[in-house]
Amino acid sequence: SQIAVEKTYDTLAMINGDFKGKDIVSFDQFSADDVRRIFALAGHMKQLVLGKEPCQLLAGQLVSLLFFEPSSRTFGSFAAAVKRLGGQTLEIQNPETVSSVNKGETFEDTIRVFEAYSDAIVLRHPRPGAALRAAESAEFVPVLNAGDGNNEHPTQTVLDLYTLYERFGRLDNLTGVMAGDALNSRTIHSLMRGLSLFENNTVYLLSPEKLRLNREDLNMFRSRNITIHEITSERDIPRDCQYWYWTRIQKERFDSLTEYNEMVAQRFTVTPALLAEYASQEMILMDPLPRIGTIDTEVDKDHRAVYLRSQVRNGLYTRMALLALVLGRA
Ligand code: CP
Repeated sequence: SQIAVEKTYDTLAMINGDFKGKDIVSFDQFSADDVRRIFALAGHMKQLVLGKEPCQLLAGQLVSLLFFEPSSRTFGSFAAAVKRLGGQTLEIQNPETVSSVNKGETFEDTIRVFEAYSDAIVLRHPRPGAALRAAESAEFVPVLNAGDGNNEHPTQTVLDLYTLYERFGRLDNLTGVMAGDALNSRTIHSLMRGLSLFENNTVYLLSPEKLRLNREDLNMFRSRNITIHEITSERDIPRDCQYWYWTRIQKERFDSLTEYNEMVAQRFTVTPALLAEYASQEMILMDPLPRIGTIDTEVDKDHRAVYLRSQVRNGLYTRMALLALVLGRA
């Protein structure tokens, strides 16, 4: 469970101002200053990309991208980030081609093998806690968690926080809605951790009853520096939110299609009418994507829709910054 993973996080090193060589497994490793450090560098990375400036910051570095679960954005942006900085990638996207899955090799052995070839490992895996296990297995290179089951997705949170910071110039005093599959959304689980590093943040969690955050996680978050209100209807969305963060129902986390379809029938979808009724003109609408029934395409042209604009682009800039820091090149 997520809590079982949480309890073992004490084996992880805090970033504490020094990213070099550190595993990035959980957002619990970050402080507010660590977040600001990435942001400062991400701004430079953005200029570099927009200016199409050649860069050799990661020249001589090879990063293994081991994706045991499908991905467009996280895989694509990590691959682009390494290449934009002059490094190289070793890319495994089909787990059937990996011996650990196909021939019965242990996960730990697989990690140690790819560690031998690379300077860092970026891992996505369907099992909660897999990133921590990989970090404990790799002796010499850092492991970056690109999403482990329904547990955490810390690098998504860096880009989500950066998107909020770009728009509002702060990460304090923000009120927002996080909607959808709170139980299974690793992006919500990490974003809650991220926002709790700052002051006076309030989150309205909108989800079907069966997809509420599990009670232990809710209590854990409530013990932190963040105010949480659980709601079950769009009618309870306050009109002064700075952001809406919509997430899909996570089909791959359900045991049966029947159970998934039951939840889909209860999902919430952002439409122009919903925005008109409950959203301010100043807010932004975010979605980690993919959107599966989360946001009507009619909303895309709205100036508040950032999910296919700055939010997705910020994934590249922030991952460039994070890689440069972890690999000791910044
Ligand atoms: N947001 C996100 O993790 O998307 P992918 O699954 O496409 O990487």
